[in-house]
Amino acid sequence: MTKRVLITGSGGREHALAWKLSQSAGVEKIFIAPGNAGTAAIGENVPIAPDDVSSLVAFAKSNAIDFTVVGPDDALAAGVVDAFEDAGLKIFGPRAAAARLESSKAFAKDFMIRHGIPTADYREFTDSTAAREYCRAAKYPLVVKADGLALGKGVIIAANFSEADAALRLCMEDLAFGEAGSRVVIEEFLEGVECSIHALVDGSTYLLFPDCRDHKKAHDGDQGPNTGGMGTISPSGSVDDALRARIRTEILDRFIAGIQKDNLDFRGMLFPGLMLTASGPKVLEFNCRWGDPETQVLVRRLESDLLPLLESTAAGALGAATPAWDKKAAVCVVLASGGYPGSYEKGKAISGLADAASLDEVEVFHAGTKAVNGEIATNGGRVLGVTAKAETLEAARSLAYRAADQISFAGVQRRNDIGATPTHS
Ligand code: AMP
Ligand code: GLY
Repeated sequence: MTKRVLITGSGGREHALAWKLSQSAGVEKIFIAPGNAGTAAIGENVPIAPDDVSSLVAFAKSNAIDFTVVGPDDALAAGVVDAFEDAGLKIFGPRAAAARLESSKAFAKDFMIRHGIPTADYREFTDSTAAREYCRAAKYPLVVKADGLALGKGVIIAANFSEADAALRLCMEDLAFGEAGSRVVIEEFLEGVECSIHALVDGSTYLLFPDCRDHKKAHDGDQGPNTGGMGTISPSGSVDDALRARIRTEILDRFIAGIQKDNLDFRGMLFPGLMLTASGPKVLEFNCRWGDPETQVLVRRLESDLLPLLESTAAGALGAATPAWDKKAAVCVVLASGGYPGSYEKGKAISGLADAASLDEVEVFHAGTKAVNGEIATNGGRVLGVTAKAETLEAARSLAYRAADQISFAGVQRRNDIGATPTHS
């Protein structure tokens, strides 16, 4: 029986998932809620927000959806998986109790410490006076994190007490991130290069994917503010077999033991952000979903059918799945609206999409795009993810930039050094 699949979200991640699932022999039709101009070319966009849980359940029931794949984190925290499963519907992603590993940094830190997963030393505060006292006597740099989800903006690296003091004011007193910042985690600054790890987790076992590297800062040379991610490469080039073995034993094996001991029903994608330090890999954060734009490079390298992997993960029956991966390197360069991650204008006409996509081994995944009178226009901060694959990282980089050069819209902003230098020391 072929399946009717619903994907929730509207970013490059969701277009990449829809692209990959559309190649699956088991898929009859894909719906994307709410989707973008790219997903509209693959399936049917449905105007429902990813966190409008009751409307999504109603849609899935009345449209005979066989399987749903959740894109964004806030929908998981809002309990979309609980609602679907309680209604007898099959869905990919952790239930809200397990998704707290992403939606509360304090919860995640406590989990890591109790289960021996390497992470930065930290303290947790709900009282700003106590937090200030701690910061006054601390060593710098120091990292101040809002406890809750803050669109990647709730992490402040403070070089000295006055910056830490300002961060505490922003989080705890001005509530710049809403309630997410009324509790803060203050942690030790880790040095190293960053790396994104993805693993399907079915509650009792895991399947580790190839590693990637995101480029979070807005501008070349890791300058400017943090963003959702300006580009990715896979493999990262920093993970050899010995390090991969340590990631398994020190992070993933302990994660599985931890969820079992704590009775946390985690079925879905675990995406730990790691710092590869001189003393080994350390977890910066747990994400409980696919990364964006990590997904864009991962689906380009996955040779096997994605649908059975997601279905068996959701069913708690991943078993010993061994998907095939392309040994080639993949690079995704994000084209963003000028001003992102700050304010930016929308509605700019995009040209050159077909020219870019016509290049061999290039896929252009849409994020903030919208079709207006038959033309495609910008509709968000991150607009497109130009994703290329080639024998080497260098060749994939040059192909991705050759394709990106074909595309233009007013104010386009991108990094020109995706994959050129390791991010951080
Ligand atoms: P997070 O959302 O916790 O992954 O943090 C966002 C970014 O802040 C990370 O990708 C790192 O670049 C940086 N960061 C977070 N925690 C630390 C830390 N303890 N030491 C150094 N950099 C950090
Ligand atoms: N690219 C980082 C994230 O998805 O959180």
